[in-house]
Amino acid sequence: MSMFALESSGLEVISNEESKIRKENDVKDTLLEIKNLKKFFPVKRSLLDFKKEKTFVQAVNDVSFKLYKGETYGLVGESGCGKSTTGRTLLKLTEHTNGQALYNGSDIFKSSGKELNKVRQDIQMVFQDPYSSLNPRKRIGKILEEPLVIHNIGHAKERIEMVMGILDKVGLQLEHYYRYPHEFSGGQRQRIGLARALILNPKILIMDEPVSALDVSIQSQVLNLLKKLQTELSLSYLFISHDMSVVRYISDRIGVMYLGNLVEEAPTETLFSNPLHPYTQALLSAVPEPKLGGNQERIILKGEMPSPLNPPSGCVFHTRCPLAEERCKSVIPEKKQMTSDHHVACHLYS
Ligand SMILES: Nc1ncnc2c1ncn2[C@@H]1O[C@H](COP(=O)(O)OP(=O)(O)O)[C@@H](O)[C@H]1O
Ligand code: SF4
Ligand SMILES: [Mg+2]
Repeated sequence: MSMFALESSGLEVISNEESKIRKENDVKDTLLEIKNLKKFFPVKRSLLDFKKEKTFVQAVNDVSFKLYKGETYGLVGESGCGKSTTGRTLLKLTEHTNGQALYNGSDIFKSSGKELNKVRQDIQMVFQDPYSSLNPRKRIGKILEEPLVIHNIGHAKERIEMVMGILDKVGLQLEHYYRYPHEFSGGQRQRIGLARALILNPKILIMDEPVSALDVSIQSQVLNLLKKLQTELSLSYLFISHDMSVVRYISDRIGVMYLGNLVEEAPTETLFSNPLHPYTQALLSAVPEPKLGGNQERIILKGEMPSPLNPPSGCVFHTRCPLAEERCKSVIPEKKQMTSDHHVACHLYS
């Protein structure tokens, strides 16, 4: 069956599984709420450029989603679609252009001083390659102790105990305390990155391609560790990745991004069994599906992703969409709620 067959009848029927998720979501607490996030980077003009209008890289455009307590929200899409910018903006590592990020009811973007400090304690970021940010001349124990010193937590002996405790939690040995960053493998370095993020006892981890640099066998070890830590430490994850298989494995819900826009959002199994947006359908058609014997029809999109410097009018996907209609060129599709937890922005469903 073609992935493009629109199973409108399927939208009316709510499976047992879906109704269970609905009920769960009803009682779930929202930990973080992103509302209409926009991030435009101004482009520096050369002295010879006399154009009056400023130009911008439209990295993130009107992205909204919620992170529920205890869940993993996967943010997925091709390279350059704005995933990292979304994550970095949330922690004010780069200034936002518009929108809100509500944490504990107050807007992170408006916070400063002590309040921002608390946010940066509660929400930690984990990057693809922690090695580049580990001081090569410091022992791991000292590196892990640093955040505790900065935030003035515990005295010397307590801090050593906390570091030893976190090394154990992430599956490293106590003797690693005295080693230097270059003495570790890629998988171990990512465990150090996790330990450093966890030492301040956060509530949320924003992870940006945390396993993308690792071999497949090591990837699954780290992903399993993340699942274990989530339960043990009551963590919520915003998991950013370009890899659909990884996101499927780790996420409870998934948001699909294309050219700075969130085009579809659904619980993981719903998204994989009933993808609605033509872009999601194309992305998923490239993921090996063992149940189908790997024989599903692959949808090849024409051309490259357009530049965010000058995104297409109307639906930003219209230049590559196999189902584009005339109105797609000029009218921006609104996000439509198909079921309580399945949203899509595409004219085919309006
Ligand atoms: N500091 C920056 N200045 C200008 N453009 C940027 C900056 N950071 C990211 N971009 C641009 O924003 C777009 C989104 O980038 P990014 O968020 O890194 O995408 P992803 O993480 O999905 O690969 C890209 O076109 C990228 O080149
Ligand atoms: S709105 Fe039009 S161009 Fe955009 S995804 Fe839907 S059908 Fe394709
Ligand atoms: Mg990125």
